[in-house]
Amino acid sequence: MKDLVNPNLLELMPYKAGKPVEELQRTYNLKRIVKLASNENPFQIPDNVKNKIREEIENISTYPCSDSYYLRQAIAEKSGLGIDNVMVGAGSVEIITMITRAFLNPGEKVLTSEKTFIMYKIAAIETQGAVSFVEAKMDDEFRFSLSNIMDKIDKMVKIIFLTNPNNPTGTIVDGKEIAKFIKNVPDNILVVLDNAYEEYVTKGADYLTGLEYINKKKNVIVLRTFSKVYGLAGLRIGYALGHPETLSLLSRVKAPFNVTRIAQKAALESLRSDDFKNKSYELNQKNKAILLSQLKGLGIKTIPSETNFLMFFPETDISELNEKLLKEGVIIRPLRAFGVPDAMRVTIGFEEDNNFFVEKLKTALGK
Ligand SMILES: Cc1ncc(COP(=O)(O)O)c(C=O)c1O
Repeated sequence: MKDLVNPNLLELMPYKAGKPVEELQRTYNLKRIVKLASNENPFQIPDNVKNKIREEIENISTYPCSDSYYLRQAIAEKSGLGIDNVMVGAGSVEIITMITRAFLNPGEKVLTSEKTFIMYKIAAIETQGAVSFVEAKMDDEFRFSLSNIMDKIDKMVKIIFLTNPNNPTGTIVDGKEIAKFIKNVPDNILVVLDNAYEEYVTKGADYLTGLEYINKKKNVIVLRTFSKVYGLAGLRIGYALGHPETLSLLSRVKAPFNVTRIAQKAALESLRSDDFKNKSYELNQKNKAILLSQLKGLGIKTIPSETNFLMFFPETDISELNEKLLKEGVIIRPLRAFGVPDAMRVTIGFEEDNNFFVEKLKTALGK
């Protein structure tokens, strides 16, 4: 079969998601499993959103609104933009793959940092092969180095992904630095600001949302998601903000009816649930500080995070540690595939789940 497939796919390592709870339950027959592997919101979604989902079940024999009209309208209103500045996808991951399909031509390259979200690499390789993906080194504090990225720009670089905050390091880049970067990047290079964790950034931090560029710079796209602070990871829904001309080109690769009815309705209702968002942010701030000090207390190096997860360095064999934790019912993320083979990433959950993780980690490390 190999000679039949798109040859780019032979160069691709498929995305490996965290183990599902059900699989671990089957394998080890465990009573309690704590999954802190995929940066989801620990809270159940609010009742008003659940009710909208139940109501929409009545309509699922018919296709959804293909261009997510009402949701786009609501996002636009909330962001102070127009409806044509918004495009909705089945998770922001769908939009990442659409961006490379729409804009990456043969010979052109995607540029990002090392130690970041793997989907940019997958999307680039799928579209134009392994030669189309370039990474710049990070700085010593595990932040995107915009100067290293700038140094890697040549005439074949077409798309730059800036993940802010970054997954898996949890770090942000100062808003002023990104603004300077955008000013200096040639207009024929797309700059994609992947702001999946934007809502978790500490209030008052020097953080750039990118909204100010949407109608001014056609080469800037902002990606956001309902999977994190809005708690809708299971419905797969995210969106892009961009100049109408850019998004209308991007929409040429959009599959019809790409976002389900239920996802559209739930996301629309979520936008009206600021209390839930605030509650999720507050809990995360509190539990992040507790978890950080617990890990520090164990003498484990951690990286300060502006997200709902922490990267840490257990100074032991990571696959062995991961296996021990799985056997104890703890699912977190080893980071070899992210380019940080000596680190793991844990999502910040409810305090009792975080404590369960810390206890099992202590035992596994013999501390
Ligand atoms: C940086 C980053 N971007 C995008 C996504 C994907 O989000 P979605 O669920 O909207 O596809 C993630 C998910 O973990 C992420 O970490």
